[in-house]
Amino acid sequence: MQNQKITINPADGVGAYVSNFNLADTKTRSDIKPLYDALGQYGVLFFEDQIMTPEQHINVAELFGAININRFFPVVDGQTKIAQVLKEPTQSTNIGSNWHTDHSYDEVPAMGSILVSKKTPSRGGDTVFANMFLAYEHLSNGLKQTLCQLKAIHSSRHVFGEAAQDKRFGNAQAATQDSVHPVVISHPISGKKALYINPEFTIGIEGWHASESSALLNTLYQHATRPEFTHRFKWHSGSVAFWDNRATWHCALNDYPTETRLMHRITIEGVALKAATYN
Ligand code: SIN
Repeated sequence: MQNQKITINPADGVGAYVSNFNLADTKTRSDIKPLYDALGQYGVLFFEDQIMTPEQHINVAELFGAININRFFPVVDGQTKIAQVLKEPTQSTNIGSNWHTDHSYDEVPAMGSILVSKKTPSRGGDTVFANMFLAYEHLSNGLKQTLCQLKAIHSSRHVFGEAAQDKRFGNAQAATQDSVHPVVISHPISGKKALYINPEFTIGIEGWHASESSALLNTLYQHATRPEFTHRFKWHSGSVAFWDNRATWHCALNDYPTETRLMHRITIEGVALKAATYN
């Protein structure tokens, strides 16, 4: 039971900052209802000064839905429901540095993730989010009409499959299936229209030649990452970001050489996506 009045302040570009809310205290679905509704409006929620044990992290996530155990990520010791997002001082690459939305390669993509900072570098390591509601809204009516009739193919093969380079991932043999989703979806919570493609996992437009697909997708990628559609989140001890994969993209900046950055991520199952209708 929360004992203070929650405040939700929209951020520039995408997302909202939530205050007067203690994630560790959430016990019931009615406790999290304001967060659920806000995700449908803003796409990502930012929290500060949260103190959460792994068990409390799991408890709050399970109020939103079943936990999806990512088949490729390493897990935190003793906590199979929590994925570890780690960059160590000797590693040059980080996880999630390309713009993406998680799990678009699944037939029923995950709803979102709750990322909790465990160790932050002395500087850098921010995560940038992009707003797929605004990206859609600011297209021309002509392009919106076309996109609402299209589907895109998504895959994990090139990121998590046998040929993938990042040794932090495992289970490469599970990266074999592709999925097809509408290019513009009706957001499952708010019904708002959102662009649903992403540079990491989308591999083409269904029924189009590769060169046609990449021309359209690259135009949309450039558009969707316009600075006015993005927000850069700076992590501190106690920071939490909770994003909705159906409304946002994110990318983790890799600008902290020789330092450690450790995050705990819990991903929550979603629902099959429905195409938006143009009107
Ligand atoms: C991710 O892409 O899931 C990780 C994001 C981050 O580490 O900031």
